[in-house]
Amino acid sequence: GCGKSTLLNNIAGLDNPTSGNIYLDGKPIEGTGVERGVVFQQYALFPWRTVLRNVTFGLEMQNVPKQEAEDRAMKYIKSVGLEGFEHAYPKELSGGMKQRVAIARAYAVNPEILLMDEPFGALDAQTRVQLQQELLDTWQREKKTCFFITHDVDEAVILAQRVVIMSARPGRIKKVVDIDIPYPRTQDIKTSPRFVELKNMIWDEVYQEFLEIKK
Ligand SMILES: Nc1ncnc2c1ncn2[C@@H]1O[C@H](COP(=O)(O)OP(=O)(O)OP(=O)(O)O)[C@@H](O)[C@H]1O
Ligand SMILES: [Mg+2]
Repeated sequence: GCGKSTLLNNIAGLDNPTSGNIYLDGKPIEGTGVERGVVFQQYALFPWRTVLRNVTFGLEMQNVPKQEAEDRAMKYIKSVGLEGFEHAYPKELSGGMKQRVAIARAYAVNPEILLMDEPFGALDAQTRVQLQQELLDTWQREKKTCFFITHDVDEAVILAQRVVIMSARPGRIKKVVDIDIPYPRTQDIKTSPRFVELKNMIWDEVYQEFLEIKK
């Protein structure tokens, strides 16, 4: 509860800061914008729309012609491994598949930055690792900035170029750690000395917070 979602929602323009401003490329953020795509933890799909219609939603909002919207949506549905499920409804999908749809939907509108609020938090460990790997692949292909919230230190280290550690409420930025592990990254790096070192360093910071709260 240190304010991670609050920060993300402020960047997304879904919420406003009590004081101060947030700038993106030098411009203050005012409301939502197509250059910022959001992926939430769960329940963010429209249950009455098929996979295809969920992914075309943002494009419909931008009045992209129907055929072009469907072509673009199918490209991302394929890239997240859901080809063949485009006419399925969210209730027919597993948790991992639903998050793949949410990721395809965010990418389809071609945002400059992706804001992800614990997108893999509700998934089982195996699916989670699979989606991390897919996100790494997509990130390398699409070259979009991702602002990704997680509680999972392994997840932070394997995905990020930079990890921002927040302190307990009221949330402050406690430390910024550059992750100097080269890409492409696979799960194998989890046993590398540098991964373990960075992971322990971040854990120490988080643990300090825990001790502070307990006091
Ligand atoms: N900087 C802040 N100062 C004061 N209150 C804050 C601040 N940031 C967040 N809050 C309040 O703290 C509560 C929790 O914030 P938020 O949901 O953003 O936390 P979170 O880090 O996303 O938590 P979780 O890990 O449970 O998702 C909210 O009521 C929010 O309004
Ligand atoms: Mg949150």
